[in-house]
Amino acid sequence: MADLRIDLAGIKSPNPFWLASAPPTNSGYQVQRAFEAGWGGAVWKTLGEPILNVSSRFAAVSFNGQRVAGFNNIELITDRPLEVNLQEILETKKRFPNHAIIASLMVEPKQEKWHEIVKKVEAVGVDGLELNFGCPHGMAERGMGSASGQVPELVERQTHWVKEVARTPVIVKLTPNITDITMTAEAAVRGGADAISMINTINSLAGVDLDSWNTVPHVGGKGAHGGYCGPAVKPIALNMVAECARNRFVNVPISGIGGISNWQDAAEFMLMGATGVQVCTAAMHHGFSIVEDMIDGLNNYLDDKGIASVMDLVGQSVQRYSNWGDLDLNYNIVAEINNDVCINCNKCHIACEDTSHQCIDMYTESGRPMLKVREVDCVGCNLCAIVCPVDGAISMVERRSTIPPMTWNERQSLISNFSR
Ligand SMILES: Cc1cc2nc3c(=O)[nH]c(=O)nc-3n(C[C@H](O)[C@H](O)[C@H](O)COP(=O)(O)O)c2cc1C
Repeated sequence: MADLRIDLAGIKSPNPFWLASAPPTNSGYQVQRAFEAGWGGAVWKTLGEPILNVSSRFAAVSFNGQRVAGFNNIELITDRPLEVNLQEILETKKRFPNHAIIASLMVEPKQEKWHEIVKKVEAVGVDGLELNFGCPHGMAERGMGSASGQVPELVERQTHWVKEVARTPVIVKLTPNITDITMTAEAAVRGGADAISMINTINSLAGVDLDSWNTVPHVGGKGAHGGYCGPAVKPIALNMVAECARNRFVNVPISGIGGISNWQDAAEFMLMGATGVQVCTAAMHHGFSIVEDMIDGLNNYLDDKGIASVMDLVGQSVQRYSNWGDLDLNYNIVAEINNDVCINCNKCHIACEDTSHQCIDMYTESGRPMLKVREVDCVGCNLCAIVCPVDGAISMVERRSTIPPMTWNERQSLISNFSR
């Protein structure tokens, strides 16, 4: 059995699976049940000044039969009194001393407010702090959450204020509602962050009801933008983690969040530089017990690969993520159709004919319809393999080029040297 323990900026947990700050971590009752189920850590539902929530507040996007492909919410931070949360954190930490409990915090951008709340939560024994500069709705209108998180100077300054008094590691949770997340990640590091986490939710409107013309969700006939999460956001989150992981100025551990639903998602985030992961929507959809499969799956994967510790997975793919200009222009793959497996639905032919490079020919052999790729015209775009409904019917295969590798950057520098 591989060692699943992680150490994220000094925060230790028995496995890399934490619950993200959200409804699943709203109370001691829930967090304790989550730890019993196997979760290694929990970021408590964001603490701050008491708020009022609206009803209703969630909506989901189902796509092609998949329930909750995306999830949208207009919920704010905790609506429970700070003292109650603090008491429950204390009790939970006492019962589960080896599990990670991180307090998520959001207050007005004032030094004394940050100092006050940091001291209060650290007094009840949290293992770390997560600064919520990410929630895009409700609190943002009051100058908190993503309103702070979109301004690098505010991220840096507030992180610095927290670091003035914090004794536990400080994770800064970033908003994806920004053009370049490395700008705010760098600001967090300049402010002294021990780690960063991403992503919080993405500005969204889940839908419009075609009968009532109300937004989904709506509050008595009115709607407001919410935050999007769940499986649909995973590629966006993974790219943001990867961009931060390969940025030399963001030299702190990353806690990966966004659309993580199983061990494979978690392993991908860790390969792309996350030291551990946080999960919200998948737990809300399927319950705490999904962590059992996550732990088993990750364990088996590491054993199969002969990897002794999950920490050895962290960042292994980062070097392979680069800029477009560093890709080899002479690398070549083409589609190959296996007519023994093909069911002749012709989806590949239609896709290629209508929207790609018109290189899949139809012909008949012994009265049977067949498809063949004209390799000279195939650009290796993958579209036919993507739309093909049958596993193994289309493979993308490498065609060795006789031309040596050449990136666009190399090409440009050759051209500029030549023209000098
Ligand atoms: C209903 C709901 C409430 C949330 N509340 C918070 C919150 O209080 N603090 C916070 O930092 N993030 C909050 N989030 C964001 C999650 O922590 C997480 O960043 C986001 O949902 C992406 O992860 P997922 O795709 O696994 O859901 C909330 C998300 C949802 C769905």
